[in-house]
Amino acid sequence: MSMQNNSEPENHTDWGHYSSPATPWLWARVNGQSRPAHQGVAMDHEKLNVLISEERLQARIKELGKEIRAHYGDQCITCIGVLKGSFMFMADLVRAIGGDVRCEFLGVSSYQGGTKSTGVVRITEDLRHPIENQHCLIVEDIIDTGLTMDYLLKLLEVRGPKTLKTCSLLDKPSNRDVPLSTDFVGFSIPDEFVVGYGLDLGELYRNLPYIAVYSP
Ligand code: IMP
Repeated sequence: MSMQNNSEPENHTDWGHYSSPATPWLWARVNGQSRPAHQGVAMDHEKLNVLISEERLQARIKELGKEIRAHYGDQCITCIGVLKGSFMFMADLVRAIGGDVRCEFLGVSSYQGGTKSTGVVRITEDLRHPIENQHCLIVEDIIDTGLTMDYLLKLLEVRGPKTLKTCSLLDKPSNRDVPLSTDFVGFSIPDEFVVGYGLDLGELYRNLPYIAVYSP
């Protein structure tokens, strides 16, 4: 496997050397608008630059788990993983949280339209159980414009959870379209298109154990 750049920032908020903006055609793909010409049927490792190594991911997830458990004490937490992107993060996070945890999943898919999320989210798989009176934690892979998370918060709030908070592995705060206060975040990253550890490009790259910037 060939990597162009394996260097990493010193800490999880210093990403100065990854400063180029994300390419619009990739955003079009993210929101399902069209199938760009580059999108092949096999992973292209030459286009990947490791942004967060497997070791740093796992170390941060263990910390996050402790932060979350400390916040809730010994109360049961209903973790709601947002499919598909969060499946790998969810699996590691619930083990890092420990104690009483319920695992639920929500399938969502953004409708097409423009090069950015329209915020119109289609539920492809709803929760199997009521969440009334439970401490709920939405587990996402990445918050970008914030429109998906904003929608999910509104959708779940009306179901009467005791508390409703968010946990996202990645956050691109510079790209927000709606104001959103995040509760637990793994890494703040620059406005780059990333793949790996659950995040995909054309359904590929989800099985990489690290996060990489994809440069076409
Ligand atoms: P938002 O509604 O713009 O916050 O978008 C959230 C969703 O967009 C995520 O759950 C991902 O599915 C997708 N997304 C945003 N940025 C990226 C990225 O860099 N790589 C892969 N998917 C992304």
